[in-house]
Amino acid sequence: MKVLVATDKPFAKVAVDGIRKEIEAAGYELALLEKYGEKAKLLDAVKDADAIIIRSDIIDAEVLDAAKQLKIVVRAGAGYDNVDLEAATAHNVCVMNTPGQNSNAVAELAFGLMVMAVRNMYNGTSGTELKGKKLGIHAYGNVGRNVARIAKGFGMEIYAYDAFCPKEVIENDGVKAVGSAEELYATCDVVSLHIPATAETKNSINHALVGKMPKGGLLVNTARKEVINEAELIQLMEERTDLKYMTDIMPTSCRLLTKRLLPSLQAAISLHPRRWVHRPPKPTSMQVLLPPSRL
Ligand SMILES: NC(=O)c1ccc[n+]([C@@H]2O[C@H](COP(=O)([O-])OP(=O)(O)OC[C@H]3O[C@@H](n4cnc5c(N)ncnc54)[C@H](O)[C@@H]3O)[C@@H](O)[C@H]2O)c1
Repeated sequence: MKVLVATDKPFAKVAVDGIRKEIEAAGYELALLEKYGEKAKLLDAVKDADAIIIRSDIIDAEVLDAAKQLKIVVRAGAGYDNVDLEAATAHNVCVMNTPGQNSNAVAELAFGLMVMAVRNMYNGTSGTELKGKKLGIHAYGNVGRNVARIAKGFGMEIYAYDAFCPKEVIENDGVKAVGSAEELYATCDVVSLHIPATAETKNSINHALVGKMPKGGLLVNTARKEVINEAELIQLMEERTDLKYMTDIMPTSCRLLTKRLLPSLQAAISLHPRRWVHRPPKPTSMQVLLPPSRL
C-alpha cells in the first residue's frame, strides 16, 4: 500500500517526519513528491498510489484518471475546493480534509487585517478602535468560532449568520444569530467572511449584499477569492468611498483593485507566502504585510 505525499509547497520537515513515522508504523510505503511544479510529474507519481496527501494541490479528473489504484485523497487544510469531488465520486475515491487545524491562525490574521484597516493602513493618522463596533461573522464554522472568541477580547458586539449551523449553537457562545446574510451586512460595521467556496457561495458577495453595510463598513476576506464578485465589489467601492476591503487572497483582478482602490486606502492585501505573492518578498516563514505604498 503506497501513500503519496504530493505537495508543491512542501510541509515542514518535522511534519513529513511525523507522517513517515505513522505510515511506516502501519506497514505502508511513503512516496514523497515535493515542489513538483509541472502537472506531468504529479500524473506520473499518482499511477501506483493507493492514497494521496495534499495541501492546496489540484486533484482534478485527469489526476484521478491517472491514479488507477487510488482509494483516498486527504487534504491537509480546510475545504475541498482544490479537489474535483464529482470526478472523485465517479472514480470511487473518498476525499477528506482536516478542518480546524489552522482556524486560530486564520482568525488572528482576520484581526490583524481589521486593526490595520481601522488604523488607516498604519499611514500615520490615528484611526479608530474595534471596541464597541459591530462585528458580523459570515459563517460560523471552525474559523468563525475562533473569530468570535477573539472578538470578545476586543470588546466588539458580535453577530453571526450561518446557513446550516443551528441558532442555539451560535447563541450559546454569546453571539447574536441573525436570520440572513443581508441582515448581517445591514447590521454590522465589520464583516469577516468565513464561507467555503461552493457552487452556492461563489460570486455571492456582491454589490447588493456589501452595499447594505453602514457608512465606513469594512469587509475582511480570509475565506476564498471565488466567493467575491470582484467586478461588482470594485464598482461598489468606487461609488462608496467609505467602504474598505481587506484580504489575504490575491484577487483575480488584483492589479485593477490595487490601482483603483489602494490610493484611497480602501483596499489592502496581505502577502500570503503559501498562496500568492503580489511582489514576492524575500523567502520568509512569516506572514508579510506590505504597506500600500509598496504594493
Ligand atoms: N486564509 C486561509 O489561509 C484559510 C485557511 C483555512 C480556511 N480558509 C477558508 O475559510 C473557510 C472556512 O474555514 P472553516 O475551517 O471555518 O470551515 P468550516 O467547514 O469549519 O466552516 C464553514 C461554515 O460555513 C457554513 N456555510 C456553508 N455554506 C454556507 C452558506 N452558503 N452561507 C452561510 N454559511 C455557510 C457552514 O455551515 C460552516 O459552519 C474554508 O472553507 C476555506 O475556504 C482559508
